Amino acid sequence: MVNTQKVTDDIIWIGGSERRLSRFENLFPLPNGVSYNSYVVLDEKTALLDTADLSVAGQFMENLEAALQGRDLDYMVIHHMEPDHCSLIADVMKRYPQATLVGNVRTFAFLLQFFPELESAAKLEIKEGDVLSTGKHNFHFVFAPFVHWPEVMVSYDDATKTLFSADAFGTFGSVDGSIFADEHDFEREYLDDARRYYANIVGKYGPQTLAILQKASGLDIQMICPLHGPVWRKDLGWFIDKYQKWGSGTPESDDILLFYASIYGHTASAAQTLAASLQAKSGKKVVVYDVSETDVSFLIGEIWRCGKIVLMCPTYNAGIYPKMKDLIADMEALAVHDRTFALAENGTWGPVTVKLMRDRLSALKNCTILEQTLTIRSALHEKDREALENFAQAIAEA
Ligand code: FEO
Repeated sequence: MVNTQKVTDDIIWIGGSERRLSRFENLFPLPNGVSYNSYVVLDEKTALLDTADLSVAGQFMENLEAALQGRDLDYMVIHHMEPDHCSLIADVMKRYPQATLVGNVRTFAFLLQFFPELESAAKLEIKEGDVLSTGKHNFHFVFAPFVHWPEVMVSYDDATKTLFSADAFGTFGSVDGSIFADEHDFEREYLDDARRYYANIVGKYGPQTLAILQKASGLDIQMICPLHGPVWRKDLGWFIDKYQKWGSGTPESDDILLFYASIYGHTASAAQTLAASLQAKSGKKVVVYDVSETDVSFLIGEIWRCGKIVLMCPTYNAGIYPKMKDLIADMEALAVHDRTFALAENGTWGPVTVKLMRDRLSALKNCTILEQTLTIRSALHEKDREALENFAQAIAEA
């Protein structure tokens, strides 16, 4: 059944939400689902702004036909060619073959890699700053390379002062009920997922994110329509401030993260003892995660939230425990920066993880790794109390 929502009188949301997909990009768990946003503009000319993922194809095509109210489609605007938004372009063009595809030179290169059958379709190539007029609406295009792919562009409609922001300002999580963020408790329902989405999807591209925020800062933006998650029409500054922090590596919280790996529970037990000591000494909340239990994407989201991170890791196969190694590899891949790390290790014979973790983390930009470390031999005992307290004190003071 048709499920569309009016964003303005003549801009209609025609996306879809779903919860059956267990992982985004076949990688990131989606416990709260995800939405794919797409918008129809009913002006003198009609425009479709992006399509959606194959998983919501039925709903999307039904919504599109209903939103167009019997009119033809004039423009198929492509802000981003990742398949979660472009999967249905060929289907749309089969149904509306007279439509003109709107994209930039890289958009069209990627388009033909996915859909060579669209070679002969009409195309309008956009250059930075170009304007597409549909009548009342004028869409000003601003290139946003690597937020999240190189071809990404956003557009600003000067009639409604709306930024169509592609992946930027998106979030994991289905949109249930209203499409508008101000009709949800965003901080409670979405913020953690929005941060996890940002950190894992575009976190590596902080400078590019800041660049697009800078470009957008000269615009009078009254509404943000992202490709995932709710539409923003109130309190935009609150969410833009989050993006400023995430893009610049500024922690949102002074909570201390304690990530441990534990094979038989001894490092886990030591981690809990350290957490209690650390919270008492620092007066800060200590948030503890078992890296084997919590998917790495959530840990990465937390690293974007907090500035101080303790890693406690047993030695395994003469190296770093695999799940901790995965976390460090993700930190490297996503270019974590401006953080403080404290390192602890456990080993029955030959503990080596403090050194190995330090070697890896040293390559991260603007990060501090505390000199003070903690080594546990098999299990923590009362004789280790002083070393543990000293370690906690050093972290608290860092
Ligand atoms: Fe939501 Fe980069 O695609």
